[in-house]
Amino acid sequence: MIVLGIETSCDETAAAVVNADRRILANEVFSQIDEHTPFGGVVPEVAARAHLELIDGVIETTIEKAGITLDDLDAVAATGGPGLIGGVLVGTMTAKAIAAVKGCPFIAVNHLEGHALTARLTDDVTFPYLLLLVSGGHCQLLVVKGVGNYKRLGTTIDDALGEAFDKTAKMLGLGFPGGPAVERIATAGDGQRFSLPRPLMGRPGADFSFSGLKTKVRQTIEGLPPGDLQEQDVADLCASFQVAAGDVLADRVGNAMAIFQDLHPDTDQPVLVVAGGVAANQVLRHRLQSLSSEQGFHFIAPPPNLCTDNGAMIAWAGIERLRLGDTDAMNFRPRPRWPLDPDAPPALRGNGAAGAKA
Ligand code: KG4
Ligand code: ZN
Repeated sequence: MIVLGIETSCDETAAAVVNADRRILANEVFSQIDEHTPFGGVVPEVAARAHLELIDGVIETTIEKAGITLDDLDAVAATGGPGLIGGVLVGTMTAKAIAAVKGCPFIAVNHLEGHALTARLTDDVTFPYLLLLVSGGHCQLLVVKGVGNYKRLGTTIDDALGEAFDKTAKMLGLGFPGGPAVERIATAGDGQRFSLPRPLMGRPGADFSFSGLKTKVRQTIEGLPPGDLQEQDVADLCASFQVAAGDVLADRVGNAMAIFQDLHPDTDQPVLVVAGGVAANQVLRHRLQSLSSEQGFHFIAPPPNLCTDNGAMIAWAGIERLRLGDTDAMNFRPRPRWPLDPDAPPALRGNGAAGAKA
């Protein structure tokens, strides 16, 4: 079973070919960073146009590197949402076109499910497992019970953690995307220098909040002597931000571990999986690794290039769906919003209104 996966929901134009033996035959990611850098963030219309220009070439290279032809495909999967709708339209239309011409099934994959199932591609983990999904648009704790079967234990009431990384980087003049820059610069910093808040820490439940942390970063910058920020100040703030983020994650994941064990007391070896772009962060990975050993959980973090957006996760989710005979019709409509657990109660409300992101 060989599936082509296409990912275009944000600012990466990506495609991959994966087979049912969990082998990645090719995995091409074209990042549009240069196109968005002048604007300090992803501009949806710029992204949509860039996807349109890049997609054919990226798929052609992927198929070539995989050493196959389009005739060898058993299905074509593409991200069907959630994400920036212009990009999702480009990916799904392209996938539908290939599927129509080659007479093979089309599968619209939930981008979040792509992240969620990556650990089954890399580590063959079995259901159920606890998942921390941390990316630019999401920060959730879920029980992954099966393909298409999720129970959300908690989510953010305001910003996603990746968003907080990106905004912190922007305030410090570190450019875009912010996460990798903050991590790099933090290595030269003192994580204890600035005392930053740990929102919701010590409170029951598994929801998150990061907007207070971001605000305090801004106030701290404003409180430093006027003029250009000193290199050491930037490094210390990045390190302090990362330590605070790690403390919050460890606290919330610790609560989720207890809930998971209540829900699934018979699981011999409980597993914590971390996924999404922020899961590429080595400091946070180590923090979650030690929490897991303390709590008796096995810890799985896919390699960083499979944590950030990629086509392999979409191809793999396509394989999981195809094995269950669960494919999509050609009239599938891209979904800008697509929760993994539609029955989850709304997140606990913060001081601000629980907006679209919550
Ligand atoms: O999963 P992803 O590639 O795209 C979304 O679906 O959102 O995640 C992108 C997010 C961005 O906010 C980026 O700054 C963050 O992941 N990120 C990181 C790191 N690498 C990417 N955050 C912290 N540390 C990193 N090394
Ligand atoms: Zn993502």
